[in-house]
Amino acid sequence: MINVPGSTERILISSAQIQQRVREMAAEIERDYHGPLYVVSVLKGAFIFVADLTRAIQNIPVRIEFMAISSYGNQKTSSGQVKVTRDLDVNIEGHDVLIVEDIIDSGVTLSYLKRLLEQRHPKSLAIATLLDKPERRKAHVDVKYIGFQIPDEFVVGYGLDYAEDYRNLPDICVLAPEG
Ligand code: PRP
Repeated sequence: MINVPGSTERILISSAQIQQRVREMAAEIERDYHGPLYVVSVLKGAFIFVADLTRAIQNIPVRIEFMAISSYGNQKTSSGQVKVTRDLDVNIEGHDVLIVEDIIDSGVTLSYLKRLLEQRHPKSLAIATLLDKPERRKAHVDVKYIGFQIPDEFVVGYGLDYAEDYRNLPDICVLAPEG
């Protein structure tokens, strides 16, 4: 395939499949909230998903906020160390908050983030993720909206990276083994 040397092996979820599922998730969210809904997007991986998901939500007011959390560095697996590298600049107290993530793998990042935001007393706090890898879960997390459950393969594209490459691929692809 394309993008960088080493390249990707195959498409796991196509752009068309993603867009269809994003529309379904947006419809579910519109049914569940009246708004304003504070969407908290976790950089960097979720940036494309949150852009598509929020543009598919047109029937309730939405506010879009960003946080950055780092747990992987340039490794393929989580270091287990979670660090907030950019915090919210709004007060979420008394508001409906939806954390939007690209992928839940071990669950370490999301369980940490959920505990952190709960301390700020939102009216409600829920999670939406495009991808879920249940086989790799170490920390339990309640997830309200899941786009796709995927097998334990390293995926890139649609915002997800390997060492900062591949985020711009339109499809979710499996990374080819090195060497
Ligand atoms: C990825 C992803 C989640 C986290 C999930 O972020 O965006 O935040 O890992 O993994 P976990 O369930 O095992 O905690 P990453 O640290 O790769 O940063 P990025 O979003 O900037 O690529």
